[in-house]
Amino acid sequence: MRTQRLDTSPAAMAHAAELLRRGELVAFPTETVYGLGGHALDEAAVAAIFAAKGRPASDPLIVHLAATGDLPLVAATIPALAAQLATAFWPGPLTLILPRHPRVPLAVTAGRETVAVRVPAHPVAHALLVAAGVPVAAPSANRFGHTSPTTADHVLADLDGRIAAVIDDGATPIGIESTVLDCTTTPPTLLRPGGISLEALEAVVGPVQVRTRPTDAEQHGLTSPGLLDRHYAPDHELWLFSGPPATALARLRAEAETLLKAGLRVGVLLPAEDLALLRDLPVETESLGPASDPAAMAHRLYAALRALDARHPDRILARDLDDAGLGRALRDRLRRAAALVVEV
Ligand code: TXA
Ligand code: MG
Repeated sequence: MRTQRLDTSPAAMAHAAELLRRGELVAFPTETVYGLGGHALDEAAVAAIFAAKGRPASDPLIVHLAATGDLPLVAATIPALAAQLATAFWPGPLTLILPRHPRVPLAVTAGRETVAVRVPAHPVAHALLVAAGVPVAAPSANRFGHTSPTTADHVLADLDGRIAAVIDDGATPIGIESTVLDCTTTPPTLLRPGGISLEALEAVVGPVQVRTRPTDAEQHGLTSPGLLDRHYAPDHELWLFSGPPATALARLRAEAETLLKAGLRVGVLLPAEDLALLRDLPVETESLGPASDPAAMAHRLYAALRALDARHPDRILARDLDDAGLGRALRDRLRRAAALVVEV
C-alpha cells in the first residue's frame, strides 16, 4: 500500500473522510500530536490500527468526537464531573475515561468497561471528524513505544506503506499528548499528565488523585499502558540527569566529557540557556528553547528527540525540567524516554 500525503483542501478532506468511513486508516494532525485514525465502531478498522502500529491489543485507544454532544454515542453514562470538565476544556487536549457504551467494540478499550474520549480542538481534526460523521479511534501515529509524531514526516518515517493516508498540516501546536483523566474514580485520577495541567483541572473540579508511577499490578494487569516506564523512547539510549538544575547540568557535562574522551558520539537535549554553557564541547545539540517557556519546550520536545536520533549518537544526555504546569507532562515524557535516570 502506498501512503498518500493529503493537503487540507476540501476535496482532500472529503477523500480522507471517505477513507475513514470505508474502514481505512488516516493519520491526521491534532493540537497535541498526529493521530492514527480509524472508524471506532468498525472492528476491522480497529484491528488494523493495532497492526499498523505494532501495538499490543492490551493498550486501549482514545475515541475522538467532533462535538461534546456526540458523547452519548460512546459513553454509557456521563458523570456530572465529566460534564463539567467537557464544558471547561473541550474542544481541547483532555481525554476523559468514562463508562463504555456497548456500541464501542471491546477491541477499542482493550476489554475494559471504560472508554477514553476526547474532542480535539485542531481545526483539521475537527473538520475531518465532522466530515467522517463517525467516532474515530486514534492513538498517536507512531510505531508502538517510539517517540510520538508532531509532523506528517514523523508519521511517514514510522508508518509509510502501513496506512492509507496522512493529512499534512505542518507541526502540531502543543507537541505532547493530551492529559488522561479517569472520571470513574472519586476523586478523579490523573493517568497521564499532558496538554491540560493538573492545576487547571483542579481549579474546575477540586482535588485530583495523581498516579504517574505504575504499581506492580499495573505492570502486569496494565490499567493504562501509557504508564509503562519505557515509552516514547528514541532509538538511541537517553540518560536523564535529575536534581537541582546546576548540579544536574554539571553531572551531565562530566558524563559528556567522559564519553567524548572514549571517542563516543554524544547528543545533548537541553534548554537553550544550558546549551550555551556547553558550547565548548563537541557534542550534537538540540535546543528545547528557553527554560522559562514550558509551552515552547513541549512544542519542540519530540521533534528534537527525533532530530538527535537521526544523527546516531552513542548516547543522548538530558536533564529533568521543572514540573509546574505543563512542565509535569514534559518531565513525564523525558522520564519515559530515558533508559536511565541519574539522581544527582
Ligand atoms: O493527545 C493525544 O491523546 C493523542 C492524540 C492523537 O489524540 N493520542 C494519544 O493516544 O496519545 P495514545 O493511544 O498514544 O495514548 C492513549 C492513552 C494510553 O496511555 C492508554 O493506555 C490510555 O490513553 N487509555 C486509553 N483508554 C483507556 C482506558 N479505557 N482506561 C485507561 N487508560 C486508557
Ligand atoms: Mg502514544
